Amino acid sequence: MTVATLTEAPVLEDYFGLSDAELNERIEAARAKLGERLVILGHHYQRDDVIAHADVTGDSFKLSKLGAERDRAEFIVFCGVHFMAESADILSAPHQKVILPDLGAGCSMADMASAEQVEDAWDQLAAAGILDDFRVMPITYMNSTAAIKAFCGKHDGVVCTSSNAVPLFDKSLREADKLFFFPDQHLGRNTGVKFGIPLEQMVVWDPFQELGGNTVEALRGARLILWKGHCSVHGRFREWHVDQVRKETPGIRVLVHPECVREVVEKSDLNGSTEFIIKTLEDAPAGSSWAIGTEVNLVNRLIERFPDKHIRLLAPDLCMCATMYRIAPQNLAWVLESLVAGVVPNQITVPEETARWARVALDRMLAIK
Ligand code: 13P
Ligand code: SF4
Repeated sequence: MTVATLTEAPVLEDYFGLSDAELNERIEAARAKLGERLVILGHHYQRDDVIAHADVTGDSFKLSKLGAERDRAEFIVFCGVHFMAESADILSAPHQKVILPDLGAGCSMADMASAEQVEDAWDQLAAAGILDDFRVMPITYMNSTAAIKAFCGKHDGVVCTSSNAVPLFDKSLREADKLFFFPDQHLGRNTGVKFGIPLEQMVVWDPFQELGGNTVEALRGARLILWKGHCSVHGRFREWHVDQVRKETPGIRVLVHPECVREVVEKSDLNGSTEFIIKTLEDAPAGSSWAIGTEVNLVNRLIERFPDKHIRLLAPDLCMCATMYRIAPQNLAWVLESLVAGVVPNQITVPEETARWARVALDRMLAIK
């Protein structure tokens, strides 16, 4: 491919005036030109007009691995959020380039923990003597920066996703005295409860307070130290939503993502990752009723896909991930036509040293069956 000069590079603003039909046509034409050199990955929470162009859809973990498996693809266009594109870059081969169609597509939960804050928390645990007296394992949710994954790699820790949190906790709780889990307190708490850990043995670490707002005694007695982070989308689901759907539809099954608060998970029938939610509905009998507590774009697609089942969003108000929504057909068309023109826009590159250690933590996770 010849490399175009910068003046030939398409300009994003030029795509905003195009009709839906024009955008679709241009995306498909660029896809055809790029052929096997391109793979487009679409996270389950992406909007329909983007998912329509995805080669593969999946959860964050499945998609990060898939890019590398499609090793003929030089360009991995990741329609998702920043931490997912970072993970895809870490797991990709050297000849592959990962592209995020809108650099503003971040994750507010991932932003709730910086590597500096995590390092500082670790230093405070060391100064309090906790690290001398106990084996503390750092575990980070996939929804975190590459730098935090690297921190876990360096400190005998591991990465976790909502689909493997249970086997991973099972192994980690046998190996360590305490787990330090970031950045989602709810996934950590909901998983800890599955192992019978009493809530009194879980403390929350607030990065803006000394010792995370805890006493040394509380930290010494804790089995789980949970970072004070959460997902603002899943945080919208409330206990009264569960009560309401049960009142409206007796016998309805409530299925939620474990990023929801404890009280909602406790009142639900089932909880699990996006892949678990999809699989459960695939297997559900025709005529069954379901209220789903996760992102609205996925729920709407499930409603369309299973017309023989009664599926609804758990909350009456919209639970949409605004940063996922930033990836629009305009961004996709711009990115693909830039690639056709020989320009690689919005490439996500994790610095080598960070990627090396983050990969250690990701590989430890992959080794857990
Ligand atoms: P998955 O790990 O299921 O892809 O979920 C990612 C996410 O951001 C959930 O809010
Ligand atoms: Fe982040 Fe929540 Fe959006 Fe998932 S749904 S990407 S956790 S803000």
